[in-house]
Amino acid sequence: MIRKKGNVYKIDTPNTSLVLSTERGVAEVLYYGKLLKAPFEPAAVTDDLSHCRKVFSETGKTDFREPQLRIELSDGSVATDFVLSRIKRGERPSMGDLPASYGEGETLRLEFFDEYARLRYYLAYTVYPDTDVICVTSEIVNCGKKSVRIQKAASLQLDLAGEGFTVVTYDGSWGAERQRHEHTLVAGVFVNESNAGSSSPFHNPFLMLKREGEVYATNLVYSGNHRETVETNSFLQTRLLTGISDVGFCWEVLPGESFVTPEAVMVYAPDEDGVACQMHAFVSEHVIRGKWKRKERPVLYNNWEGTTFAFTREKILSLADRAALMGAELFVLDDGWFGHRDDDHSSLGDWFDYEAKTGGIASLADAIRAKGLKFGIWVEPEMISEDSELFAKHPEFAMKPLRKAGTKMRNQLLLNLADKQVQNYVVRAVSHVIQETKAAYVKWDYNRFFTDPYGKGIASGEYCHRYMLGLYSVLSRLVEKFPSVLFESCASGGGRYDPGMLCFMPQTWASDNTDARERYRIQQGTLQAYPKSTMGAHVSASPNQQSGFLSTLETRFNVASAGVLGYELDLAELTDEELSLIQRQIEFYQANRELLQFGTYYRLDERSGLGGFITVSPDRTKAIAVITANERVTGRGGYAYTLKGLDPSVTYSVTTREQQGYEGTESFLASGETLMNAPLYRPDIMGDRENRFNSIFSRMLVLKKVSMR
Ligand code: DGJ
Repeated sequence: MIRKKGNVYKIDTPNTSLVLSTERGVAEVLYYGKLLKAPFEPAAVTDDLSHCRKVFSETGKTDFREPQLRIELSDGSVATDFVLSRIKRGERPSMGDLPASYGEGETLRLEFFDEYARLRYYLAYTVYPDTDVICVTSEIVNCGKKSVRIQKAASLQLDLAGEGFTVVTYDGSWGAERQRHEHTLVAGVFVNESNAGSSSPFHNPFLMLKREGEVYATNLVYSGNHRETVETNSFLQTRLLTGISDVGFCWEVLPGESFVTPEAVMVYAPDEDGVACQMHAFVSEHVIRGKWKRKERPVLYNNWEGTTFAFTREKILSLADRAALMGAELFVLDDGWFGHRDDDHSSLGDWFDYEAKTGGIASLADAIRAKGLKFGIWVEPEMISEDSELFAKHPEFAMKPLRKAGTKMRNQLLLNLADKQVQNYVVRAVSHVIQETKAAYVKWDYNRFFTDPYGKGIASGEYCHRYMLGLYSVLSRLVEKFPSVLFESCASGGGRYDPGMLCFMPQTWASDNTDARERYRIQQGTLQAYPKSTMGAHVSASPNQQSGFLSTLETRFNVASAGVLGYELDLAELTDEELSLIQRQIEFYQANRELLQFGTYYRLDERSGLGGFITVSPDRTKAIAVITANERVTGRGGYAYTLKGLDPSVTYSVTTREQQGYEGTESFLASGETLMNAPLYRPDIMGDRENRFNSIFSRMLVLKKVSMR
């Protein structure tokens, strides 16, 4: 709800308030934090206008921190002077080709004008009634007669009072995405950034700023280069900026045109669980759209780790037989079905059947469907191999500078998606694949970064963003054309896990690392920002193909049950006993799917190698907890866990899921209050001696309400 009293605007979400004032001619933030019930009294305003907490900053002023805006005018100067001209409640600004959150909300739009530069700047705050997340969008409009160049336009500036925040970021690489890091900032500038062309596995755009009893978090609805900075100054202030990275960025705005920044989102909560809970609700309700929003996702089988490129039609059909037998609902044919692709050196771009291998992709898809499975297919449409018919015909489609061959990664080049003709080609090619195979699911992969961002006739400072606009336009056309298809985004694993991609694809493959212990850590990082229903999580073979570590089939399932379950291993290698174990796992998952995919998630405390997560139904009558031990310490008698998110006044029956390697099941009654406060000892977490060489141990607890106290 947005309220105005004099020159003070109070933007309330269910649990937070953001108070802005225009009292002194500038737009400043007076307060951001927990909900203030009474109207705000602007008593606590700092005297010093040049160091007040402004809603945005620009170059040319005495504030020497990183600014939100740096715009070069036609006279060569970069000193802008935006003056507040209007504040209006009303519509959200149009986002053009950029994805953004959606829903019935309220918007407060601030309008600034620079008389000399003839530039208008709109800054809009949007709130929805069901979430504490506040969305921020902005637009720079050139009302003059000469063009200007935007050198930097961050989407959001969050100026906070005080310092000593701990910055929490999620960083990594292929196979180790979204590893949590904490940095306590007392002076200077902290940077979290990607210039790899995508949001990247290196530094996710989501971050948190933490202090005792308060956590601020931001994210960016964007999948390209991004930059977040956190800066403290000696006036006891902390500034967070998030937006498109300004490294190499320079965007010309012609007279009469405008530039829209990607939507940024921010949230305040008293603790990290509150942030996760709000971010999940926001993404589920205002980012994920279409048929699959809130719809239970199928359990899939994917052949990649089982066969890689080396499959035949017969092998795929025998895998499908076993996948159907074990209870999977969707069969995903991964890389290697097109062109003449037998390894990663060829065929990207040739999205037509490798008939000698598949025996006819359309009939293969039909044969899989005849076994009672839905059919899904892998594509990597943003790429081109030099060894492809597409490259022979259209070498100009590749993204590479004219003077050299182009740096290859995984032996491939990117397509120049900034170009309309290339966009049209991708839409046509992918449409054909979906139509020919009648695919119910598409895994959209993306296996390299930008090294030579270049497109003929496109200014280098605009290229990376123009690529993203091209990609988004392709995705919106495809999603509109195939509204029933479930799209899963992938980027060499989880290299492009961001709210921008989630606007088009309700799922993201979290990582190529399926080792239970390492995957657990990747998932815990991912789930701080993104809901479980968005996270593809598969059970694979042990020893794990990536890490070589061992884990039991039961623990692999327990870990994967935190997301959208899949299996990805050679099913021919399973014993009958393992196959029937998997059948039971899938039955259990299906029976509890609503809770596992859409329940409220809490990370359980991670101390001394212990951890886990719990998912709780909205009415708190049901919950499933997975408790883990990530190290085995000889002589350690007890492993203690406290749960979260339960109703303290409810008595729950707590039952251990029957797990191979553990003796029987155990059931006991306990109140939510006890379970959340008194440590629950599980000396048996390791299971029997057969388990002892594993790298992670786990048990699953199923909680059901028995009575109220
Ligand atoms: C990378 C993906 O993350 C894998 O799951 C698999 O699809 C391969 N690409 C196929 O090339």
